[in-house]
Amino acid sequence: MIRKLHRLTGIILAAFIAIHLISHLAALLGPEAHLAALRAVRPIYRSAPVEPLLLAALLGQLALGMMLVRQRRRIGIEPGWGTAQIASGLYVALFITIHATSALYARYVNHLDTNFWWPASTLAHPGLRYFFYPYYFIGVIAVFVHLAAALHYRAASTALVKGLLIAGPVMGLLLLSAFGGWTHKVAIPPAYSNALEANLGLKSNAP
Ligand code: HEM
Repeated sequence: MIRKLHRLTGIILAAFIAIHLISHLAALLGPEAHLAALRAVRPIYRSAPVEPLLLAALLGQLALGMMLVRQRRRIGIEPGWGTAQIASGLYVALFITIHATSALYARYVNHLDTNFWWPASTLAHPGLRYFFYPYYFIGVIAVFVHLAAALHYRAASTALVKGLLIAGPVMGLLLLSAFGGWTHKVAIPPAYSNALEANLGLKSNAP
């Protein structure tokens, strides 16, 4: 039952994550193209019935995932795929909690539009980039590894599973190159870098 519910919430979240990551690829063409892509997909996941459903799926996924980890620890975690599934699941859980909370905080407390400049400001910061580059890169890879492990256990084709393991780092690098300004010079609007530093206690919030 726990496993079935975890799969159901996982499918709902996977649909969102697919839309989310694919729309971010538009950032390869620059901030304006990314904003146009966000404007196209936001009506889907920010609509009244969908956003609460996503948040409920997220909370359900985290709680059910923790229950599955506890069950697995009791029967013993298989080395290889078993370990990869649990490690990637724990990282995705941590990542998505911090990332979604920060997005909502930026939106409702900092009153910022969480567009291209929001993640770009973290990758452009001279000190914080050493945290945010691996944080995003591992986040994207962990999603693909977790999906690959689920498909491996459902006896999906080896080619599909291997394809996902390759697609994770490729997608991660493409997104980091876009938001990290490897292809376009990015000048971060001060509102974003100031909010980032104030939120992390690196500077005061006072004007
Ligand atoms: C380099 C990779 C990523 C970048 C640059 C990125 C960027 C963003 C941006 C710009 C937003 C705000 C979206 C908006 O205003 O409409 C956002 C929100 C969000 N992201 Fe990501 N994201 C990345 C990876 C991920 C991954 C891997 C996950 C899932 C595991 C994820 C889950 C979420 C969630 C749940 C939200 C909140 C949605 C909302 O605003 O209602 N993101 N992210």
